[in-house]
Amino acid sequence: MTDTKKILLLPGDGIGPEVTNATRKVMDWFQKTGRTSFEVSEDLLGGCAYDKHGTPMTPDTLKRALAADAVLMGSIGGPKWDNLPFKDRPERGLLGLRKGMNVFANLRPAPVFDALVNSSTLKPEVVQGLDIMIVRELMGGVYFGDPRGIETLPNGERRGTNTQVYTTSEIHRVARVAFELARKRGNKLCSVEKANVMESGVLWREEVTKLHAAEYSDVQLSHMYADNCAMQLVRYPKQFDVIVTDNLFGDILSDLASMLTGSLGMLPSASLGPVEASGRQAALYEPIHGSAPDIAGKGIANPLAMILSFAMMLRYSFNMAANADLLEKTVQNVLTAGVRTADIAEKGKPTVSTDAMGDAVLKELTKLAG
Ligand code: IPM
Ligand code: MG
Repeated sequence: MTDTKKILLLPGDGIGPEVTNATRKVMDWFQKTGRTSFEVSEDLLGGCAYDKHGTPMTPDTLKRALAADAVLMGSIGGPKWDNLPFKDRPERGLLGLRKGMNVFANLRPAPVFDALVNSSTLKPEVVQGLDIMIVRELMGGVYFGDPRGIETLPNGERRGTNTQVYTTSEIHRVARVAFELARKRGNKLCSVEKANVMESGVLWREEVTKLHAAEYSDVQLSHMYADNCAMQLVRYPKQFDVIVTDNLFGDILSDLASMLTGSLGMLPSASLGPVEASGRQAALYEPIHGSAPDIAGKGIANPLAMILSFAMMLRYSFNMAANADLLEKTVQNVLTAGVRTADIAEKGKPTVSTDAMGDAVLKELTKLAG
């Protein structure tokens, strides 16, 4: 490696700092062994930023995120901030960061590790060998659409409004990412919406179909309504390779998919922006789990989703496939050896703390690297 890459670390709230701590040690291992050349700095995002600065994301934090080569986040939110007005809530910080970084494609892989087949609530034969990739549109749809708000009507009733809205270019750019990924995997893409009831869904289906015909006819494309997709994901998940869907359906379906793999505590994600002329691409990596207030501070959270998010960073932002493979293989071995945090515990077997899981990863890394 020649040039040093800048990484901004945002531990966030709840279990965020705990899983970040374990991940940081893994990052340091890659540094110390000369495999990477990273300059890592930290900042506040979410409730912790609100407590210190009165806003869940300061303009300076966004500036630092934009200047970084990649951003790695822990988790944000918690009951402490639940009653704040929307604009001050931790979630606003995260949405603002995604929007500000222009990361429109959220890759949420859901692979089932062999060692965790029995952690899933579904039967082993349904999930064994499963490997799904959900591509969630991240910057549009009902999360950001206008008009939005809560108003009081003349008759005294209150009305809450959100708008589901997509343009052709928004659909094309995320579908393109999904088609490209499908080509590198099982060559199958399922596009998910509610075209039976929503105009934005009709447009979504038409535009994905057009793009397919024009540029990706070699990929096997299917369409599915979101409700059916939820059902099919638990009925026969192996029918899926890559799924592309909007912001809201993607949020829901990826939580669902995580349970196929055994635990929400296992799944990483990468959010990518457009590739710029310089080759640069904004990227935000985060576990898909939340801040888990119920277990925060106890040191028992599973750090693997964040560690695997770092592996995705190595792969997607820095083209370090060998390092990413090494880290993913390490996680696999640690699980095979039976090391388990509580969320992926085996019946009657002991569990380990967040730190101990991190240490097991470090030990295995050292061993595998020989
Ligand atoms: C996710 C989370 C976020 C979302 C929240 C924390 C704003 O659920 O990343 O899936 O809804 O996008
Ligand atoms: Mg979610």
